[in-house]
Formats: sequence, C-alpha cells, structure tokens
Amino acid sequence: MKNIVLSLIFVSLFCPIAIYAQVVKTKDKPNTKSVRERISINNEWRFQKDDPEEVAGSLDYTKIREWVLPSSAAFLKDTSALPKKPEGNLASNVSYTQSGFNDADWRKVDLPHDWAIEGPFMQEYSGKTGKLKYSGAVWYRKHLTLPASDIGRRVYLDIDGAMSYTTVWCNGQFVGGWPYGYSSFRLDLTNYVRLGGDNVLSIRLDNPDKSSRWYPGAGIYRNVWLVKTNPVHVGQWGTIITTPKISAESATVAVNITVQNDGTKPTQALVKTQIMFNGKPVAELPIRTLELEAGRSVVATAEVDVAKPQLWNTSTPYRYIAFTTVEVGGKMIDSYETVFGIRSIAFTANNGFLLNGKRVQLNGVCNHHDLGALGTAFNTRAAQRQLEILKEMGVNALRTSHNPPAPEVLDLCDAMGIMVMDEAYDCWKGNKTKNGYHLLFDDWNEQDMRALVRRDRNHPSVIMWSMGNEVKELEDAVVGPLIGARLTAIAHEEDPTRPTTLGSNKPVASYNGIQKSIDVMGQNYQRGGYAEFHSKNPTIPLVGSETSSALSSRGEYFFQTPEQVSTQISVTDKPDKSDKRGKRGQKKSAKIQPFEVISSVKTEGRADFQISSYDLYGPGWAIIPDDEFAAQEKNPHVAGEFVWTGFDYIGEPTPYNADETNLLNFTDPKEKARMAKEMKELNKLPVPSRSSYFGIIDLAGFKKDRFYLYQAHWRPELPMAHLLPHWTRPERVGQVVPVFLYTSGDEAELFLNGKSLGRKKKGQYEYRLRWDDVVYAPGELKAVAYKKGKPWATDVVKTAGTQIALSLEADRSLIAADNKDLSYITLTILDKSGTMVPQSKNLVSFTVIGPGEIIATDNGDATSHASFQSPQIKAYNGLALAIIRAIGPGKITVTAKSEGLKEATIMLTSR
Ligand code: GAL
Repeated sequence: MKNIVLSLIFVSLFCPIAIYAQVVKTKDKPNTKSVRERISINNEWRFQKDDPEEVAGSLDYTKIREWVLPSSAAFLKDTSALPKKPEGNLASNVSYTQSGFNDADWRKVDLPHDWAIEGPFMQEYSGKTGKLKYSGAVWYRKHLTLPASDIGRRVYLDIDGAMSYTTVWCNGQFVGGWPYGYSSFRLDLTNYVRLGGDNVLSIRLDNPDKSSRWYPGAGIYRNVWLVKTNPVHVGQWGTIITTPKISAESATVAVNITVQNDGTKPTQALVKTQIMFNGKPVAELPIRTLELEAGRSVVATAEVDVAKPQLWNTSTPYRYIAFTTVEVGGKMIDSYETVFGIRSIAFTANNGFLLNGKRVQLNGVCNHHDLGALGTAFNTRAAQRQLEILKEMGVNALRTSHNPPAPEVLDLCDAMGIMVMDEAYDCWKGNKTKNGYHLLFDDWNEQDMRALVRRDRNHPSVIMWSMGNEVKELEDAVVGPLIGARLTAIAHEEDPTRPTTLGSNKPVASYNGIQKSIDVMGQNYQRGGYAEFHSKNPTIPLVGSETSSALSSRGEYFFQTPEQVSTQISVTDKPDKSDKRGKRGQKKSAKIQPFEVISSVKTEGRADFQISSYDLYGPGWAIIPDDEFAAQEKNPHVAGEFVWTGFDYIGEPTPYNADETNLLNFTDPKEKARMAKEMKELNKLPVPSRSSYFGIIDLAGFKKDRFYLYQAHWRPELPMAHLLPHWTRPERVGQVVPVFLYTSGDEAELFLNGKSLGRKKKGQYEYRLRWDDVVYAPGELKAVAYKKGKPWATDVVKTAGTQIALSLEADRSLIAADNKDLSYITLTILDKSGTMVPQSKNLVSFTVIGPGEIIATDNGDATSHASFQSPQIKAYNGLALAIIRAIGPGKITVTAKSEGLKEATIMLTSR
C-alpha cells in the first residue's frame, strides 16, 4: 500500500480576516517594523490601455524573453541554461517607462484591479471567455516616495498576481518580469530606487487573446506589496515548517529557515524561533548561529516539541505561529512570522484520505478564480463569502482549478478548516487554446511549480499539489509519465510532505504509466472506473479530482410539451445502475441530457438558453450528483470528490458554448463527431450566454436547488429538507409538475394543500425523493421528512400572488470602513404575504446614501449582458444582488426601487 504520510505546514505574513484570527494573536511580540516592513501599495495607481506608438511590437514576450527569464533564477535548480540579462536597458525609448512621463491624464485606479470586467459584454466575443475583451497591452504607473532612512535596506516588489506577461520598470530602468498570470513573484528594486525622493514604477501587462478556456481576467488583479528588509534577512518564502511526529502528548515542530546575506560583508547571525499559540509562547527552538558569506544564503534547521498540541482539522482549525528573529551583533535585524498548523495527512490506496489518522471523505468542489460580478479583482471578503456558503453546504475541500489561487484564499482555508488541492496549470506542452501556457511551459514550468510550492507549503489547508488538469500528454505513454515524474520531483524537493496528483479525464492515463508518475491518481468523470483502477493499481491512492459537471439555472424548471423537443429528457427516467466504464469512464446515461438542450426557441415555461433545475442535466461527459455519491459509497478506497463547480464562473457556458476544447472531453470518435456537429449548429445561433451553468451556486452567490442535494448528503446530521420546484405555475394547472425533495432524512411525506401525496423512502444509493406525477394546483406544497422513523425536517413552498414589494437583506450589516470590506445585499421580490415571486424579472435601481458605494450588481442570469457596474439590474427569478463597499465610517443607507413595487431600504454601519 502506497501510504504518503505527511505533516502540516503553513506560512502567512498576515491574517486578513479578524473573525478567523483569534487563534493567531501575537500580542506579546516585539515591535518589528523597524527591521522588516511589508507595505500595501494597492492605492493610487494610474492606468492606461494600449502601448504608446513607439513600442511597435518591440515588447512582445518572444522578443524580450532573455530580459525576463533572469527574474526567475532563484526558482531554477540549474541556471546554466538561463540567459544572462542583456547589458543596457530595455525600452528606454518608451515614454511610459520614464520617470518624467506625465501620466496625469491616465485613469486613477486602486488595486486589485480587473480592467476587463467593465466590459461591455459583446455578443461577438466568445462565450467561453465571458463575452468580454480581456486581451491587449495595458500599463500601470505609480509614484512612491521612499525615505532616505531606507539607505542600506533591500527593497522588493511583491506581486501576488497580474494577468499577464508582467514587465516592470523602476525609474525608467527595466527590472524584470514574470509571464504566468497566476504566479506570485518578487522583483528586487534595491538597485533601481531613489531613496529620499520620488520613484516611479511602470508596469506593462500583455494579456494574449485565446489564452484560456474560461475568463482569465486582466490587470493587476491581486495585491501588491513593497517589502523592505535589512541586507541580512529571511529569504522570500524562506521558511519550511513540518511536524514529523505528532501524538496527543506532544508534536515535533521542525523548522527550516533560509537566511540570505545580500550585503557586501560576511556576517555571523543568530536565528531564534519561538512557537506561539493563542498569543502566548509555547516553545522555543534551539538558537542557531549561521556564518553568512556575502551574497549567499544559509539554511538554519531546528526542532522542538510542543506539548499537548492542538491539531488543525476541519472543525477546529487551530493554527500556531513560528516567530523567527535574526540577530547580528546582538541587534535584531529581521523578524518573520510563519503561521502553520499541526496535523498529519495520509492518502491511502485502500482507505481514502486520513487527517490526523482518521478517515475524512473529501467533500470538495472545484472553483475558478473569478469572484462573480467583481471579476477577478481579488477581494478577501468576497472569497470568504464564497467559502462560507460552500461550508454551509458541507464542503471541506477546494480544488483551485486550474491554477494557483490568491494567497489569501489559502489563509481563509487554513482559518476555516477547508482542505485544498493546490493546482499548477491547465496544460503542459500540448495546447488547448492557441496562446495558452503551453507557450511558456518549457521555459517556465519549473519556476512556476517551485514558486507555487514555496509560497504555499506552510498552509495546513493544502493537502496535495496538482500538477495539471486534463493535460494533452495524458494519452502519451512516453512524454506524459516523464513530465509527471519531473514535476512531482520538483514538488517533493520543495515540500517533502505532500503528495502530487493531477486531474485526468483519459481512462488510459490510469494504466499507461502516468498514474505511477504522481502520488495520488486524480480521475475526472470516471466513476465507473474507480473499481478497475484499484484492482489494477492496488497501491496507488485515488481521488475523484473532478466530478459531476451537472448544469442548472437557478429557478428554471422545464417540462415536456410536444413542441419542446429540446427538453425531451423525462424527469422520470430511472437511474443508471450499470456503472460500466465507457467513454470518459461512464456508461452514457439517458437521464443526462447532452447538448440537445440547445435551442433558441422560447416556449412556455422555458427561458432561452437556461437549463432546468431538476438537476438531471449535463453535457455528454457529466453525471448527476447522485451517481457520483453512489460511486463514492461503492468505492471506499476513493478519497472523495471535487465537484465541477462550487460557484458559477464567468466563461465556459456549456452547453451554450461552442468552445472547441469541449471536444477534448471525448475519447470516442463517434461521440466526438456528434459533438462537433452540435457545436457547428450552435455557432449558427446568436447565443448570449457568458457564464457557466455548472455552479451549485450561481454567479451572484445565490443557492441553486443542487446546493441542498449536496447539503443533504454531506451534512447528514443537519436536519434539513428542500422542495423543488417553486409552486407558482398558473400555466400548468391540471398538468403534471414533478416534485423532488432533497433531505438529510431518509423518508418523507408530501402534501399538496393538506392532502397526502404519499410517503416515500430513499432506497440504497438514492439521494433524492421524487414524486413524478404530481398534478399542479395552486396553494401549498409541504414535505415532512423523517429520519429513522422520527420527524426530522419540513419544507413548504407556496404559490405566490402578484408582486407587490421589494425586500433587502444584508449578509453583514456591520462592515469595516477600510475601503475593502463588503456587504452583499440580496433583493427579493415579494407578494403581499411576503412570499418570493419566483419568476419575477423586474428592473430594480439601487442607491446609496452615506459612506458606501455600490461596486457591482448581479442576478445570477448567465445570459445577461447588463454591466456588472450598473446600479440598475433586472431581478432574475425573484432575486438580485448589490455589493456595497464602505468608503468611510458611518451609516450607509441602501435603497432599492422598482416601478410599481414598494421600495425597500436597509441600513449598514461601517466602522
Ligand atoms: C472538464 C475540465 C474543466 C471544465 C469541465 C466542464 O473536463 O477539466 O475545466 O471544462 O470539464 O465540464
């Protein structure tokens, strides 16, 4: 049995969310500002689209490759093939790089910034990248004053993420760059800055078209920092903390600290580390004395036992801090905090995943990096809200598909007890899109991989490194295993404690050697192949790295009518129990609706380009959630699943998506040809769709019915019941409207206007209760659920009357006045009894009085081309969202108005 036992880790230089930070207080630590500063430089940038004329293509990456590559030297094991940075300066003829250039008429922006999310959405742009223009060169400039007292210090620019092909000048001098838009990187500004005066940073990004299968965003979309240190200091991501031995009595904490001497003289330094828990010191590591030659770095290692360790787990995610100081000549010259957790992880071939020695099923979702209407501009509260909603559903794991996340996402996962599959890329050498990462792979894969692992290796939440998703090399029995093994070796060099995996959509990759080149096999959409994998690879752990891909639009329910050939799949189709591995590992199930749902015909009860929410629909490679639940139960060796996807995301509006990369999902040539034909048909339609239908939660963060299907299964102890569809169907009086119930109970009775429609029990491997023949009559539909014979939960849906009023609800009515914190306000359209009117689509206007602003609106409709920045928005199926940011302390009044309806107001406080 292959058994990879690991330990914890974690590093974070700050903890952004106060409510999750209680356990990592460091109130007793000395004032360290004088030795190390990390300053946010997000504010007051100037922004301009397009290159000035004189660039004339001269800054295309292929032309400046040898200028950029040297920036990555610290992330290459062997630098002999690395080009030397050319003599002289790059682009000294380009006005935008010059300190003296007058940028006063450029637009003022604060970071994180996604310039492409402003749109407009254009019908002619591809749906797969969100019908938004995201390509082209743009420039950001910022003036910075650095005090003369910084003389002798090192000054670094840390960029958490910029999309993409970043190049940086400081005071007109080229500094360096980093092309992969999802990598975090550091550039050394020390030799370019003017201390005691004004400095100008000029940053050029060059986002290629056709670079992604989803909306990649554009701009400096994550946080940017200025870091100042003494010449002798802890290096970038310079700590590794592991916990090789853990028992109830004590845990060994092993610390590995890289101290760098960027000064000109050899120095002797003392390295001290104290372990803190809950604001108090709990252990001290032995002091290490390092002899540091000029220009070199040395690693200090030490171990200590922490008594009665509080283990990190998903319900009590305790974190510790390693507080390191570096002293030279009796004076503290650096301090560095590493947040970590004490926990063990193990992937086993027979018994799935073990956290602290106990089996934990990975109930995970995949998510892309956009934050809905905010686009990709990172906001900690927006990410936290997503994770909170997912946790409420029972999620305990996240796959950062298909790229490294913002570092704060991992801080949040650490704090919230969410385990992470941290993913590197969507492709290797083989391309999926014309200008994808394959163009960078040869030059950059080692640096990007090392940067990912170094940055994230101390997070207790991170439990595995994913080397890639559905890479083209999966079917290549020679190149595939070679690259898999090489990337695995890199990950292990940087972090010996976590296993590697990848997401494979090709059954053959489970047998052609690729499965042996990584530590844990990740299968995408192959639930019918789990058993076979185990019998042929009895020592390799397995996880469902991507599952389901079911589709739905919140609040839409379609019924069969003779003319609706496009929705011919009956909700009464029986589940497929055959579980034979076929195309993409599953026997094609009749109840999974392939692409025939495409239609531009508007028929009664059916909106254009939406998908019914009976949760029975998906593209040809998909399976309904229920089938994956059954497969996981039947195959306890599998560590769990990562559903595609938790949240809807911008781009990839399958099935209304003529993206040629869909074809990669088929192994059967006949199926592939059928799909190609359907996509051709789709190309003839004016398809408006610009965001996905895969989400269990819609783009605005509103729960679809599927949320409750997962919650019922993943939180069996939570008494809950959820009925669908909504019960306001005047057009279907006297006709059948099937009713489903998602409940954590095992049995339920359904009542329509007080009359029982029968009691049903879940069979083995059944996860929803269904009454397929209910004849619609207005009134009240009620379900009473039971567990083990005892009443457990109820749900009621009522027929709504005419819409009369608006109501507003804030997810948080007290927010921080820090220009970042957000309140998400849900607008609901109600009838006179306070019931939501489920199909209402009224136009609503939001206004704000006080120190707040509306930064975006949304409604979860994947076909809407309305601007996310507009304060006016149409409700979609009864709901709309306004996202409010506080811009100062005080009372913020948010009002919503809609013609003919009673307005609503809500008060927020910011402080
Ligand atoms: C997978 C792919 C995802 C997404 C999904 C849609 O094959 O890995 O990125 O495209 O299909 O079902």
